[in-house]
Amino acid sequence: MIRTYKEAPSNIAIVKYWGKKGIQEPMNPSLSFTLSESISRVDIKYRHTEEKLKVEFLFENRKKEHFLPKIMNFLERNAKFIPNLTHGSIEINSANTFPHSSGIASSASSMAALAKALYSINKTITGSDHNDADIVSEMARLGSGSAGRSTQNGWVLWGETDMLENSSNRFGTPINSQVHNIFHSIQDSILVIRKGAKSVSSTVGHELMNNHPYKDGRLNQANKNIKTLLEALKQGDFETFTSVCEEEAMSLHALMMSSSPSYTLLEPESIHAIKRIKKFRDQHHLPLCFTLDAGPNIHLLYPKEQSKTIVPFINEHLAPLCEEQMVIFDEISMPKPE
Ligand code: DP6
Repeated sequence: MIRTYKEAPSNIAIVKYWGKKGIQEPMNPSLSFTLSESISRVDIKYRHTEEKLKVEFLFENRKKEHFLPKIMNFLERNAKFIPNLTHGSIEINSANTFPHSSGIASSASSMAALAKALYSINKTITGSDHNDADIVSEMARLGSGSAGRSTQNGWVLWGETDMLENSSNRFGTPINSQVHNIFHSIQDSILVIRKGAKSVSSTVGHELMNNHPYKDGRLNQANKNIKTLLEALKQGDFETFTSVCEEEAMSLHALMMSSSPSYTLLEPESIHAIKRIKKFRDQHHLPLCFTLDAGPNIHLLYPKEQSKTIVPFINEHLAPLCEEQMVIFDEISMPKPE
């Protein structure tokens, strides 16, 4: 029996992946950073037999049959990268460090952890000690697009762009060495406006981009924003970072509101919080901005040095807008020095 444990972080995108083509390739490049506290862990046991592959999936030690189709699809799409895992039995036990009902999507972190673990088991079988980071990211991406940005830590760009040599639609590329120090310790305080699962999945949202009336405009915007963001990250320019970050967040939700059918994932408290954040920033001239995922929750981003001023503001004025006052104080996870 081969047993392996792996973990991977969630990530938050500044330039959003919204719309796909082919097999889980993005319509536009996206850029995110991985988190420290929001992590998925997998514990996998593989037994080789001559029988056709049997898969069992457990979430926190309990069997969860309804996740199986997603796992089978993952294995099928990745068959060429894990050719030694076609027979025998695999038991996957997965868990998250963040609460089930925190509204934090776990597909990026869980698919990234799964990709790392299965790649590693396949390597153990072949006796290879070569680690191909691009392949692990590609495997994760084939499970969930944004997971391709969660197999390596820190700032990761995914999707072809003229702005980065070696950028690819197939895998994420870390860009930490091109990012100024102030962004190496960026904080992400997550305002949990609603804990439950969202009403429309990202997969459906991506599909609605295929015939979206603003599709071309969106692609131009994302490509332009990648260019501006890369420069702002390099220069340590928090003001430009803020303007790209908030434009992307609001555009993502504007695209949902103008899809056919249209929908919104924002809640009244999301808007209320956004207005409060902007007012506080204008009053105190602080480096502080927000982004949104595909849901009502708000990610507040700021440099670590500002925590002393910003954390009390969050606790006093923003926590009351959250379900059960829930705020998750997270921050970037950077690669460990070699
Ligand atoms: C809004 O990666 O969850 O979070 O590829 O269908 O699994 P699938 O979608 P997913 O989409 C994430 C979209 C987003 C923006 C982002 O993370 O870039």
